[in-house]
Amino acid sequence: MRRATQLLRRHTSSAAARAAVRQEIASLEKASIDGGGIDRIEAQHAKGKLTARERLDVLLDTESFREIDALASHRCDDFGLESDKAPPGDGVVAGFGTVHGRPVCVFSQDFTVFGGSLGEAHAAKIVKVMERALHCRCPIIGLSDSGGARIQEGVLSLAGYADVFQRNVDASGIVPQLSLVLGPCAGGAVYSPAMTDFLFMSRQAYMFVTGPDVVKAVTNEVVTRNDLGGADVHCSKSGVAHGAFDDDLAALKATRTLLGYLPQSYDGENPDVLPYDDPDRCDAALNTIIPDDPNQSYDMREVVKRVVDGHSLLILSEDYASNIITAFARLNGRVIGVVANDPRHLAGCLDADASTKAARFVRFCDAFQIPLVTFVDVPGFLPGVAQEHGGIIRHGAKLLFAYAEASVPKLTVITRKAYGGAYDVMSSKHLRGDANYAWPSSEIAVMGAAGAAEILHRGVSDEERVAKADAYAARFANPLLAAKRGFVDAVLEPSETRPRLIADLEVLRHKERPNLPRKHSCGPL
Ligand code: HXC
Repeated sequence: MRRATQLLRRHTSSAAARAAVRQEIASLEKASIDGGGIDRIEAQHAKGKLTARERLDVLLDTESFREIDALASHRCDDFGLESDKAPPGDGVVAGFGTVHGRPVCVFSQDFTVFGGSLGEAHAAKIVKVMERALHCRCPIIGLSDSGGARIQEGVLSLAGYADVFQRNVDASGIVPQLSLVLGPCAGGAVYSPAMTDFLFMSRQAYMFVTGPDVVKAVTNEVVTRNDLGGADVHCSKSGVAHGAFDDDLAALKATRTLLGYLPQSYDGENPDVLPYDDPDRCDAALNTIIPDDPNQSYDMREVVKRVVDGHSLLILSEDYASNIITAFARLNGRVIGVVANDPRHLAGCLDADASTKAARFVRFCDAFQIPLVTFVDVPGFLPGVAQEHGGIIRHGAKLLFAYAEASVPKLTVITRKAYGGAYDVMSSKHLRGDANYAWPSSEIAVMGAAGAAEILHRGVSDEERVAKADAYAARFANPLLAAKRGFVDAVLEPSETRPRLIADLEVLRHKERPNLPRKHSCGPL
């Protein structure tokens, strides 16, 4: 009887203890959801920003988010931090969910808690979801809004950043990594987003290694945060970001759209859709889209739009190095990566920035098994002291290297000019292009006729030089020689481009051409 009473008492007390623990968990979970509290949330809204959790609500499919480590907290008792009062969650919301029904891992920094600053526990949460993404082979999406390394935690914060950087590198080429920078992102903190595959920014965000104060102290330059590292600067001048958006909502929606083109991992299926646009569609407008005057520009985006599936063109980095277009699109429902010279900017010449931009895109598509379709109208590499001194040789080599190394299906359409080294670089047959076409308007030569006559016939009269240029143009300002040598597989009526590319993609569906075994290539960086 006595023993029974004892057991009953123990049971009652353990039930009470469990209830207390449950209550504590519930209260910590609520605190985690509340973040920095109503005032800070209102301040966040007043800046035109959503909170970390609101952002995830927009990014992920409805009610798909599953959180991890909501109760994780710091263990620091320095400089005003108190571990026994540590806010649960530690300034970052992490977990997994779905986008378009496909799993993704996410973390979203909460500026309302310690300014979203990164300490030991905060970093450990990010590392945990990144490792899960790697193990489960799904994209990782990081939402940054942070004051950077948590100052009170000293080297533990720096160690946490390095742990994240290492995971970025581990995941590179295995799962797609996307970053949204939606608030401050300064100091070494910039390097995690910078190492990811795609980076979108809102116009409330800024990124820089050293802020305006340090810039002023060191160089005496006076600059605002926005002018130094705002979204438009990084989308037009530095090339760090691939898209600038007015607010969080637009950036998050664009991320969902982008994810619709990406596979879950390098060995996953591409998110192809059922064909919805006629594969045999021949667009007669393409036959007249190239101006008669070879020096007149035209809109290459219009060319690409008319070839690919309707409304499928998603251009990235549109305002940076606009002389080259990098985009995702679909052909008969299949995802493709598009690279295209744009004659409206620098006449479509390749310069250092365009080469780097396209090289990175080609490498991404190759890593993730996305076929490349290249539209060529390139008069050559951009001449000039600034380009030469700025490393056009090194940067141009990156694009050459990327195309030569890419083993995905490579389809190429020369619409007009394909001159000099740039002809070779732009997915030529010689770099193992699988299907290379020229439109009748193509000019495939070492250089333009006038320049050629200038070099070959220096001592002759002006009239003679013009005649020589005409002769050079007659010989080379067309695709004949290239077609006779098999450097282009066919000269296509422009309107027939779409059905032909679709047929090629189908034939190349199971293309295999692995590169030779090695640790990794040593291309120019
Ligand atoms: C700890 C921080 C913090 C940080 C902000 N907070 N940044 N706490 N460590 N790095 C806290 C603030 O103390 C404040 O707490 C709250 O977050 C909100 O910050 P405010 O300054 O009130 O906000 P705002 O005026 O909007 O300014 C945002 C800010 C500013 C521009 C980001 O907070 C700032 O300059 N922070 C420091 C940035 C920085 O120097 N970080 C280190 C960079 S070096 P209370 O309780 O007062 O509201 C770095 C190295 C990384 O990150 C290296 C990786 C290898």
